[in-house]
Amino acid sequence: MAGQFITLEGIDGAGKSTHAAFIASRLRERGRTVVQTREPGGTAVGEKIRDLVLGEAMDVHAETLLIFAARAQHLHEVVRPALAAGSTVLCDRFTDATFAYQCGGRALPESHVEALARLTHGDLRPGLTLLFDTDAATAHARVVARSAADRFEREDLGFFERVRARYLEQARREPDRFCVLDGNQRIEAVQSALARALDERIG
Ligand SMILES: Nc1ncnc2c1ncn2[C@@H]1O[C@H](COP(=O)(O)OP(=O)(O)O)[C@@H](O)[C@H]1O
Ligand SMILES: [Mg+2]
Repeated sequence: MAGQFITLEGIDGAGKSTHAAFIASRLRERGRTVVQTREPGGTAVGEKIRDLVLGEAMDVHAETLLIFAARAQHLHEVVRPALAAGSTVLCDRFTDATFAYQCGGRALPESHVEALARLTHGDLRPGLTLLFDTDAATAHARVVARSAADRFEREDLGFFERVRARYLEQARREPDRFCVLDGNQRIEAVQSALARALDERIG
């Protein structure tokens, strides 16, 4: 049986990395084999592309094509083999992030990302997407406190407000796939909501 594809989404500082380990251990407790990974990255080639995309100023088309190049390699090397083996793939960011950041944040036409998504992964889409919806100012304060900011994290609040709005729009379009969690709450409160959502959505 093919495994389940679960993605974590939200703006920088929303809490994706914080909650990934909690989600993975909860799934493992229920007997699943979990492959935890991230985008851009998740492979040797992908991590090099990640460094480039997060570090170097570039045109939005170049940025988007590089993200999809990393995604193609990640699907080939990690995601598809794991799903074929029946594992649960827990991935920090996927194509929803490209719609949110490059379309929402940088005004790239959606049709461009739709075409690249079709080319790169056809009908494959996550079965469940956990969206940590966090206020841009709150998330930004967390990022500043966390470490030196990358090229995306240095964007202004308006950028993150557009990215957040685009994520919420995606969740409205696909309510069955998305589970929206209030990422502004204390970590323990987010985890209680997460635990309930996981019980409900995947048992
Ligand atoms: N609910 C929360 N309340 C307070 N701080 C949080 C919360 N969630 C995450 N953090 C902190 O904010 C920072 C960013 O969280 P992180 O999980 O790295 O975000 P993301 O992976 O979505 O960019 C981390 O230092 C983390 O400890
Ligand atoms: Mg993170």
